[in-house]
Amino acid sequence: MYENYYGLNSKPFQLTPDPSFFFASKWHKRAMSYLQYGLSQAEGFIVITGDIGTGKTTIANSLLDAMEAGIVAAQIVTPKLTPDELVKMVASKFEIPVKGSTKSDILGDLELFLTQLHQQGKRALLLVDEAQNLPLETIEELRMLSNYQKNGKPLLQSFLLGQEELQPILRAPNMEQFRQRIVASCHLSPLTENECQAYIEYRLHHAGYSGNTLFSSDAYSKIFVFTRGVPRKINTLMDRILLYGFLEELETFDEDAVEAVVKEVADEMFLPENKVPEEPAPEQAPSDAQHAAPAPASGEAKPDGLKDVTYYKAMLTELTDALDDAISHKIKLTRYIDKLLKKKYRTYVRLKSDD
Ligand SMILES: Nc1ncnc2c1ncn2[C@@H]1O[C@H](COP(=O)(O)OP(=O)(O)O)[C@@H](O)[C@H]1O
Ligand SMILES: [Mg+2]
Repeated sequence: MYENYYGLNSKPFQLTPDPSFFFASKWHKRAMSYLQYGLSQAEGFIVITGDIGTGKTTIANSLLDAMEAGIVAAQIVTPKLTPDELVKMVASKFEIPVKGSTKSDILGDLELFLTQLHQQGKRALLLVDEAQNLPLETIEELRMLSNYQKNGKPLLQSFLLGQEELQPILRAPNMEQFRQRIVASCHLSPLTENECQAYIEYRLHHAGYSGNTLFSSDAYSKIFVFTRGVPRKINTLMDRILLYGFLEELETFDEDAVEAVVKEVADEMFLPENKVPEEPAPEQAPSDAQHAAPAPASGEAKPDGLKDVTYYKAMLTELTDALDDAISHKIKLTRYIDKLLKKKYRTYVRLKSDD
């Protein structure tokens, strides 16, 4: 909608984790290096954790995009898989037929497939996204899969990406064997204020923007304060800011323009009313547990039991509220567009009468 107005050739803040938009912030660069280091080691597990929207899937996709020949990769995004389902899914991702086969048939076929790859001078990589959803026994199955070896070299390597809940899972007492196989782990932090600005500028230019600076430095600060440097939030907010700018025919954005949009989206981004954050979160100190073994077993995995009725009721109420918000937002947008059309029509009538 606003692309033409700002001279863009695509939408700069799409939510799809598109590798061509990859911005190498300090933490993204570091996580990418760990993954590449892991690849060069050709064994063990690499674990990347980070909050929702910090860029884990984007990193995985960028890695797959830049993957060297000779590595056959498969990516799984896991709902709660049982060990058997995991084995099935891994096999089908590597295009091994699984229909009607027993687990031990599938494991046999998988080993055969991996051995054949090895004979062709290739190896296999499994990227497991949203790995915090995996039950402990499924992670253990993953470890078993990494036991397949040929001449002392593992045939399948796995990378795990997941939200913070993954850390206590891996720290569980019975995960010791898995832990010993972790080559490196890294936690993705949000962007710093400077990176937030650089990220926005990078995405705008990548989408073809070539005009003057669009945002004042106060506007950038406001964007950072509201999004706390989380790329997914930045994308959502920026998309709305550009839409607002187009509707209001703005050529540049100051703090007030950003503030107006922040007010509009605060509810949608699930912040309690009038609770737009004022202070950015203190920057997370780089934890040195980034390297190798996670801390000793202290945390406990969340129990996987059913939640009670009140929980689901509360969730449904939240969902209804969110849908109500979405509808009222659509109404607002339609009004905006009406206003814009009227404005354009008046200009048209005026120009016509000048003729
Ligand atoms: N380093 C990055 N470069 C470019 N875009 C990014 C980067 N990190 C995150 N994003 C964007 O932020 C959004 C959320 O990223 P995503 O990878 O889905 O997060 P996660 O998997 O951690 O929840 C996506 O729209 C993605 O395009
Ligand atoms: Mg993701």
